Amino acid sequence: MPTIKEILNTMEYGPAPESTKEAQAWLEQRGRQFGLFINNEWSAAGELFASINPANGSKLADLTQGTAADVDRAVAAARAAQPAWQALGGHGRAKVLYSIARLMQKHARLFAVLETLDNGKTIRETRDVDLPLVARHFYHHAGWAQLQSEEFADYRAVGVVGQIVPWNFPLLMLAWKIAPALAAGNTVVFKPAEFTSLSAMLFADICVQAGVPAGVVNIVTGDGRVGEAIVKHQGIDKLAFTGSTEVGRLIREATAGSGKKLSLELGGKSPFIVFEDADLDAAVEGLVDSIWFNQGQVCCAGSRLLVQESVQEKFLAKLRARMDKLTLGSPLDKSMDIGALVDPVQKQRIEGLVQSARDEGCTVYQPACELPADGSWFPPTLITGASTSAAVAQAEIFGPVLVAMSFRTPPEAVQLANNTVYGLAACVWTENISLALDVAPAIKAGVVWINTANQFDAACGFGGYRESGYGREGGREGMYEYLTAKSEDARPAAPVIEPKAKAKAAPVAAGGAFAIDRTAKLYIGGKQARPDGAYSRAIHGADGSFIAEVGEGNRKDIRNAVEAAHKATGWTKATAHNRAQVLYYIAENLAARGEEFAARIAAMTGAKNAEKEVQASIERLFYYAAWADKYDGLAHQPPMHGITVALNEPLGVIGIVCPNEAPLLGFISLVAPAIALGNRVVVVPSEAHPLSATDLYQVLDTSDLPGGVVNIVTGSADELARTLATHSDIDAVWRHDGSAEGCAEVERLSATSLKRTWVGGAKGRDWYSTAQAGGRAVLAHASQVKNIWIPYGV
Ligand code: NAI
Repeated sequence: MPTIKEILNTMEYGPAPESTKEAQAWLEQRGRQFGLFINNEWSAAGELFASINPANGSKLADLTQGTAADVDRAVAAARAAQPAWQALGGHGRAKVLYSIARLMQKHARLFAVLETLDNGKTIRETRDVDLPLVARHFYHHAGWAQLQSEEFADYRAVGVVGQIVPWNFPLLMLAWKIAPALAAGNTVVFKPAEFTSLSAMLFADICVQAGVPAGVVNIVTGDGRVGEAIVKHQGIDKLAFTGSTEVGRLIREATAGSGKKLSLELGGKSPFIVFEDADLDAAVEGLVDSIWFNQGQVCCAGSRLLVQESVQEKFLAKLRARMDKLTLGSPLDKSMDIGALVDPVQKQRIEGLVQSARDEGCTVYQPACELPADGSWFPPTLITGASTSAAVAQAEIFGPVLVAMSFRTPPEAVQLANNTVYGLAACVWTENISLALDVAPAIKAGVVWINTANQFDAACGFGGYRESGYGREGGREGMYEYLTAKSEDARPAAPVIEPKAKAKAAPVAAGGAFAIDRTAKLYIGGKQARPDGAYSRAIHGADGSFIAEVGEGNRKDIRNAVEAAHKATGWTKATAHNRAQVLYYIAENLAARGEEFAARIAAMTGAKNAEKEVQASIERLFYYAAWADKYDGLAHQPPMHGITVALNEPLGVIGIVCPNEAPLLGFISLVAPAIALGNRVVVVPSEAHPLSATDLYQVLDTSDLPGGVVNIVTGSADELARTLATHSDIDAVWRHDGSAEGCAEVERLSATSLKRTWVGGAKGRDWYSTAQAGGRAVLAHASQVKNIWIPYGV
């Protein structure tokens, strides 16, 4: 008698096509032609481009290529509508968002079919994944709108938000962008991807029905030129982009120095790690969801399979057998696993990369499956034998192509997992909970799924580490992306402090037998170090008299400091309690020498009450010592049987350029939060008044601070900031010395490796005020959230 499995294996599904009647009727009713949706009105169609059904190449409708003038109109409408939308209050906005959520559910089938027609993804995905998540996102954010005045009392809406999304999840990305923006009281100018704008057109109708006031949501269709016009528009306060890392970089460069808030959700090359004790059958299913979901056109697709060597052959055999069963064909057929690629251009790109693997001698496995004659299709593909540096192992393929490699030990798995410039997501499959929870924090990625894959929820933040971008969508952290702390509005103008220092080629010490060398050295790896260039600069006091010399740090010194910081990994692994103890100890030792520090500040700056700055610095150290073990993560309860743990992880190595106006307090206010959370820092102290920092060496030495955690390089703020921003091993750069141009340069240069930045721009900061120089907002700059999904049972 055949087993159930054998019977199931022989079962064939007949075609089960979903009707397109309603979707086609809606397109007909709209004359298959769309203008732009601005101020709740449809403009007449302009220059047109076609929206094509990728499954058969037929034209669905014509859309308007927006112009810079259209973007102007949209921004003006959004600006005019914003104050009233904010003034409507949390409950008023919650009602509108709730109404959108209800209408999305009511019209879910129409949206699902339209999305499948336009994008080529299967109806099973649009119907069962995209639409439920879209509705959930609007419901969840109706909740945040309702709670905003309580939960984000010290924040206001950012203002007018520009949002640009890709074609792989057209409606879901729209929801991820528009729901939090509206909840927080912003108005939006939204641009869908040129391949897939139709669901956004239908969404515009929903906005009108839901009572979204005119100008709150504006939708401008078109290609990258519209995106560029949005990015460069002066009237936009925040940009949210999802798409390729390449365009993300361009946007970072284009917005440098503009003061616009920016969040980027970019590419990925996510590892899918299978340990030998994993439930291999479940892992195979997870992999199907991970790399063949949406034809692999998913930023967090598990595109790199890392399987433990001992089970490699067994696992790959199961995987090939499963691949043989995947169904590919009309996306409207409810029994299909794999639909069409969005466009022939994607197909060419994927083909090129797979060919490169063949050329390099890799083995390429593709099940025998018939590809439809029309449209863009690519079979599920498994590549083995690729080297870790092969193009297919490093580049985001964005197609149904899996690259498999093996590892022997858990550390090797982690090392391979992190061998990428990206850091969006990872899957870990093992039945050993200790192993899973040991590996998850070691992987540099914003999301880790344990024994599951591609789970998303509005309550759990989603976003990347490293070149996968920054900012989060979803959850509390996603709301902060659309809010500005009210204390930012109260920041003072930056005081003008002319550095009195001049670099000179100096014989370091001179004089007779008792002359004392007053040149402060640099502080690298817990030791005082002579500057590489053997130059120093003279520091003069407020009265113009010479006080001392400090080393003139250069590129090589920064390199040494970064190296020392990287070695100090023990600090990141230390417990938060231990880190707090060290901060308290620094405060204690500073207090013991308080008078000396006050005298130094007075000599440098002419301050009358320098004791106040020393006192405030001691208090700030206590403040961040207090926070060290209290900036906890969260445990989310998404609609699954399980838990999602949101961890606040340190960024790694942060380069910090300090302000001039409070040489000691400014230094402490930036360094203390960074190290409290486990980062290591390379600090450029105030260029004008660096001696408060160089005097700290002995305090740090006697406070149990491990060498390499705090490294101090004195010299030119501009030159050193430039070096920090271009250094590939630095994870973030902060600059707060009031130099607008310098801050813009840091932002521009950070684009190369997509470092996080926190810059003060031309404004100053009241370093005495906890509202301006403390709180969760500062801690958020020193950390990034990792969401670890842990299902219960199986
Ligand atoms: P893309 O990044 O060019 O397009 C994404 C969005 O940005 C679209 O709305 C596009 O019109 C807009 N855009 C293009 N140039 C712009 C500019 N200079 N300024 C502002 N907006 C601009 O991605 P594309 O060309 O659709 O796909 C190319 C590759 O990018 C894919 O093969 C894939 O590897 C990657 N990609 C990654 C995505 C992800 O979610 N990680 C999403 C889409 C693409």
